Amino acid sequence: MKIMSIAGARPNFMKLAAIADAVKTYNERNVTLNGCTNIEHIIVHTGQHYDAKMSHSFFDDLGIPKPDVNLEVGSATHAVQVAEIMRLFEPVLLKEMPDALVVVGDVNSTIACTLVAAKINYPITAKRKRPAIIHVEAGLRSFDRDMPEEINRILTDSISDLLFVTEQSGVNNLKDEGVPENKIHLVGNVMIDTLQKQLERAKHSNIKQTMGVKGRYGLVTLHRPSNVDSIETLQPLFETLIKISKKINLIFPIHPRTKNNAKQFKLFSLIEECPGIQLTDPLGYLDFLNLTSTAILVITDSGGIQEETTYLGIPCVTLRENTERPITFEIGTNYLIGTSPSRIYKVVADILGGNGKDASIPQLWDGRTGERIIKKIVTSVNCLCK
Ligand code: UD1
Repeated sequence: MKIMSIAGARPNFMKLAAIADAVKTYNERNVTLNGCTNIEHIIVHTGQHYDAKMSHSFFDDLGIPKPDVNLEVGSATHAVQVAEIMRLFEPVLLKEMPDALVVVGDVNSTIACTLVAAKINYPITAKRKRPAIIHVEAGLRSFDRDMPEEINRILTDSISDLLFVTEQSGVNNLKDEGVPENKIHLVGNVMIDTLQKQLERAKHSNIKQTMGVKGRYGLVTLHRPSNVDSIETLQPLFETLIKISKKINLIFPIHPRTKNNAKQFKLFSLIEECPGIQLTDPLGYLDFLNLTSTAILVITDSGGIQEETTYLGIPCVTLRENTERPITFEIGTNYLIGTSPSRIYKVVADILGGNGKDASIPQLWDGRTGERIIKKIVTSVNCLCK
């Protein structure tokens, strides 16, 4: 069986790592399931993220095999980025003709490659007419169609053949959209597979010594276009962080989008010169996990970090009005609080005052999700897209 996986942007890489590991384990076990003794795994990097710190370091940290193909699309508007990925991916798919295409998450690379695969016609002599399309992290919905990721999620799910879901809300959303139940599989969270596997190594990272971090600290990430693409939203957020930094030191690995915008809006020096805020370039996986796992709290607008903090039991203050990962605030450590400065400040003060919440880890976030996914792919792909 030949499986092709797509990765393009930073949040994809930890998910791909778990898939690649599960394929490796399947091959090493020498089992034969459904006539399949060996899986050939081809990795395609679209190049959506291309900086060493946003991309290559994750492959190194997580031991992901070097991509077989890199489309090197780079940054552009959404339309150009998606179009370029599609244009460059089509010949790769036709050359390799995998049995299954695995796409993860909700970035532009996810929808671009899915769309190519859904419409491709393998030559008549091939054993199937197109690859079975497998979406890992399906069904999540923020119900906010202003988010580019929400559009990517809805479209990807609607043309995928197998949908692997991290939490019950995803199953419910897909059923509500009329997706047949036999396509939907609640399997848990591949990102947590990777986190579990790497946590011990991450504890040995020397990032705190390198950065001179001493004592308690909060960790900050911000990159959502709705927060960072206009001065009206970014300035009050920066001012709130500065106020918070008087209560607790903040470490802020700044995303290129946020840094570029802050410079353009002439806000960068505000944050750069603040004594309680330590800015750094984006960090590698192990360094970032090291800092997350011992933070007093995390302030973020990321999707995946809401899940990682829930698993780690670290309070997460999410600066968004909605989340596609509701389990993280229903049973996890997440506080979904929007962007009002007074509300952010109050919630942070409450957490620092020791008023955290009781939290638990969602069902099936147990480190074995990749294994469940590969088993299901092996046992069902032959019946799909004949
Ligand atoms: C993308 C994803 C988002 C994910 C985020 C994580 C989409 C629609 N968005 O958003 O879901 O949470 O990645 O980072 O796919 N840039 C660099 N170096 C890089 C990559 C980007 O400098 O390696 C800069 C470029 O100036 C670029 C900007 O960052 O224009 C934004 O990159 P882009 O890939 O468009 O989107 P993200 O905001 O990173």
